[in-house]
Amino acid sequence: MKIFSGTSNKPLAQKVAKNLGVKLSDLEIFKFPDGEKRVRILDKVLGEDVFVVQPTSAPADENYMQLFFIVDALRRSGAKSTKAIIPYLGYQRQDHVFREGEAVSLEVVATLLKWGGVDEVISFDLHSIKIPEIFKIKLTHLSALPIFAKEIKKIGNDTTLISPDMGGIRRIKLLSGMLNNMPFVAIEKDRDLATGAITMSKVNGNIKRNAIIVDDMISTGGTTAAAADLLKRKGAKKIYAFATHAVFSENASKILQKSKIDKVYVTDTVFVPEDKKFPKLKILSVSTLVAGSIKSA
Ligand code: R5P
Repeated sequence: MKIFSGTSNKPLAQKVAKNLGVKLSDLEIFKFPDGEKRVRILDKVLGEDVFVVQPTSAPADENYMQLFFIVDALRRSGAKSTKAIIPYLGYQRQDHVFREGEAVSLEVVATLLKWGGVDEVISFDLHSIKIPEIFKIKLTHLSALPIFAKEIKKIGNDTTLISPDMGGIRRIKLLSGMLNNMPFVAIEKDRDLATGAITMSKVNGNIKRNAIIVDDMISTGGTTAAAADLLKRKGAKKIYAFATHAVFSENASKILQKSKIDKVYVTDTVFVPEDKKFPKLKILSVSTLVAGSIKSA
């Protein structure tokens, strides 16, 4: 078995390899003056089961192309199987047609992964549980919720789990089950599909306690910050946010640091560079879960 990493999250790949007691295998990614890349495998992979770690967070297109090239190079070098560990699956929010005339970008990606020679995809906390149906290859769906449950236990009782939208109900129900049926509520959220503007109108239930917002990802930070504003207005005490994927686009870090949230917990499915870190942020690692899934693959 061999583990390779693209460039999008090498620290995670290194942690996974360390956990498994192996060294990351070598490859070369050469950049031509015009920006095109050439990938070359430097380790022997003939007859090996190979795993490639490459979250397809921003720049998603570039990270996908890199993954396709690595997988192609591995197949040509005789790898027996190639499994793509894509902890954050880029384009997952475009899993169906929202408005007439749109492309289903995730379906395109799924097709390319299959035809590119990927045998299996391993990913985390997908935006919708229906996503595996789009893939014509096996998609193993892991979750960071057990890691969150462990951390939430340290925060203590007198706490309510909050989903910032109705779509997240299943997620907080699962988490509640891991926490002795901790109470949970969902906020009514609307997003304008053309402008992205968010409105949060209503939250029912007792939230005059500590509130834990749980989401699959934080992109601009708008959803999390707006949820925290609403919760504070309704009397919440301390507010924490847990999200698997730290997409952190635009000014997310500043928005989150300035928000009513006391602490933001994310995982390392997406690499967070130093300039996007902020004092309220805590990053938990999914490396043990990835290593576990490699062992059982
Ligand atoms: C939406 O359905 C997702 O679960 C997240 O709530 C959303 O993608 C977060 O985006 P942002 O941080 O830009 O509000």
